[in-house]
Amino acid sequence: TLTPTPEDRFTFGLWTIGWNAADPFGSPTRGPVSAVTAIHKLSEFGAYGMTFHDDDLFPFGCSDADRRAAIDALKKACDETGMVIPMITTNTFSHPMFKDGGVTSNDRDVRRFTVRKILRNLDLAAELGAKTFVMWGGREGAEYDFSKDIRVALQRYREAANLFAEYVIDKGYDIKFAIEPKPNEPRGDILLPTVGHAMAFINTLDHPEMVGLNPEVGHEQMAGLNFTAGIAQALDHGKLFHIDLNGQRGIKYDQDMVFGHGDLYNAFSLVDLLENGGPDGGEAYSGPRHFDYKPSRTEDITGVWDSAKANMRMYLLLKERAKAFRADPEVQEAIVATKQDQLAQTTMGADETVADLMANTSVYETFDADSYYDGKGFGFVRLQQLAAEHLMGAR
Ligand code: GCO
Ligand code: MN
Ligand code: MN
Ligand code: MN
Repeated sequence: TLTPTPEDRFTFGLWTIGWNAADPFGSPTRGPVSAVTAIHKLSEFGAYGMTFHDDDLFPFGCSDADRRAAIDALKKACDETGMVIPMITTNTFSHPMFKDGGVTSNDRDVRRFTVRKILRNLDLAAELGAKTFVMWGGREGAEYDFSKDIRVALQRYREAANLFAEYVIDKGYDIKFAIEPKPNEPRGDILLPTVGHAMAFINTLDHPEMVGLNPEVGHEQMAGLNFTAGIAQALDHGKLFHIDLNGQRGIKYDQDMVFGHGDLYNAFSLVDLLENGGPDGGEAYSGPRHFDYKPSRTEDITGVWDSAKANMRMYLLLKERAKAFRADPEVQEAIVATKQDQLAQTTMGADETVADLMANTSVYETFDADSYYDGKGFGFVRLQQLAAEHLMGAR
């Protein structure tokens, strides 16, 4: 079915539909959307939940009373609608004090303030029952190679991540962290720029089991990388804790378009992987399908809600096409023809040793490499065409 329901686990950042459409070249083209309005609208459209940065819900530096009023209004809207807050995150990039980053700023007082801001937001995550805490290092980075020693900056990043994990353990919170890689923008170069960089960093932490990833479609594509392949590696490492879905067209500024409005082929393979790539052919990822997009600056409020619905519809359409693709006998036959069943076999036999392999002359010494393939191809293009036809609704 193409009608979203909470079982689909679609979630949206408050900063997405709530964006006033100011960009570096122009002022806002829309008014803000309140958290309460957002909750009611998204619920009406069939979403499961909403996420936010602390500063999306209550202004930076506001009084404790105003902060509490905003939190309580959100909770009330959630109670009224059944919407949940499965993830929250911290704004450590908007205020001018964060101009050289938060937890990796060269300025130690900025780092100490940032740590406190994040700890306070961890308490809020626990209060709201959010089990995932995203860390996007928006301004953790640099423009100039001599402005900081990246090794030392990474030590400070690690120090902060370890401290947050320790805090969650001490408080007994049921919260895991998800690092969101991005190669650039707003900094010239951001620390932990891709899925791979972030996974290597996570392995250096005191509690790597508490820290995973929140990869974003557009961010890997801004680096020219294949998002589906990155997600596959994150799944292989058990690190896909959360996901940001949106659309991007190639290596340029962060476009944050509707999911599927960028590289549609990659969106198709992504949904197929998430929905059908599990060990039994079921789900490979069961967390929220979180949209982190921006309704384009050209759109009015009607366009905002149309684009929110478009994200969910694109996902459900791709899910439907992926099911049909998998169910097509010709596709199944074409998959076998590509030898993917052989890829699933171990390269060595069950009890085979390296010595056995060395002794087996048919593997190497007498193996006729030149005539082996006999001009036969793998048939990948045929399979891709079948995928394209399913994607286009031609089959
Ligand atoms: C971006 C990022 C952000 C983060 C968000 C979570 O490119 O602007 O994707 O939207 O996801 O700030 O911390
Ligand atoms: Mn983005
Ligand atoms: Mn963005
Ligand atoms: Mn994001």
